[in-house]
Amino acid sequence: MEKKLQAQIAIITGASSGIGAGVAKSLAIAGATVIINHPVAATKDAAEAVLTEIKTTGGNGITYQCDVSKEEEVIKMFADIVAQFGTVDILINNAGLQRDSPFEKMTLEQWNFVLGVNLTGQFLCAREAIKEFLRRGVIAERSKAAGKIICMSSVHEVIPWAGHANYAASKGGIMLLMKSIAQEFAPKKIRINSICPGAIQTPINRSAWDTPQALASLLTLIPYQRIGQPEDIGNTAVWLASDDSDYITGASIFVDGGMTLYPGFSTNG
Ligand code: BGC
Repeated sequence: MEKKLQAQIAIITGASSGIGAGVAKSLAIAGATVIINHPVAATKDAAEAVLTEIKTTGGNGITYQCDVSKEEEVIKMFADIVAQFGTVDILINNAGLQRDSPFEKMTLEQWNFVLGVNLTGQFLCAREAIKEFLRRGVIAERSKAAGKIICMSSVHEVIPWAGHANYAASKGGIMLLMKSIAQEFAPKKIRINSICPGAIQTPINRSAWDTPQALASLLTLIPYQRIGQPEDIGNTAVWLASDDSDYITGASIFVDGGMTLYPGFSTNG
């Protein structure tokens, strides 16, 4: 079988669990060497478990600890990976988290923590990736593009979310960060897009699916009538990172079973 990402080096941030782990697995199956980034010492075992699974299916990679909200750690991660592997071809800007709170009770710490990881983390990683893509340029045998960045956004880059103002603000921010740099670097053959997942079955939203009642309530928001799985996002990421999508840049691709189709209007209005 043709491997669409053969020999390409991909950094996936926040890949020790959830969507990031799923994307790492899909990219590895497509032939990429995956850098499974995780934030702190406590997440190392989980990252290693993802790597072990990848290796049992014939994939290749390493784990790498780095808190994406810390500038010096991000700079070091990119320098280390370029030193070890020669370059980076793909950045999956995935690391993200929620610290939910009614707005009037939201602490500055909750606000800063979410914005720091979800938005500043994407800025820092994208900046280092772009420096490397500009340095290397296009190598035709690897890819038509000099580099690909996929930002993990959310349906909440367009759907307002009461009780989650910090998270929704971070995702709205990702949208215009992504589009602005996509515009800036298209002439350099760097492609930058976002995936906007809906409800994907991962630890971040466990309370939305772990009882039959919660799941039934969640499904009222999903016209396609199933919760998403990490491989739904992984498959999209492989396509967006491959030359099959070479003419796509600056796009937000919604992978959400129709969550953004205003499902409340299917029987009303
Ligand atoms: C959030 C999940 C939520 C989903 C749909 C995602 O961005 O992280 O908690 O289930 O959006 O609302």
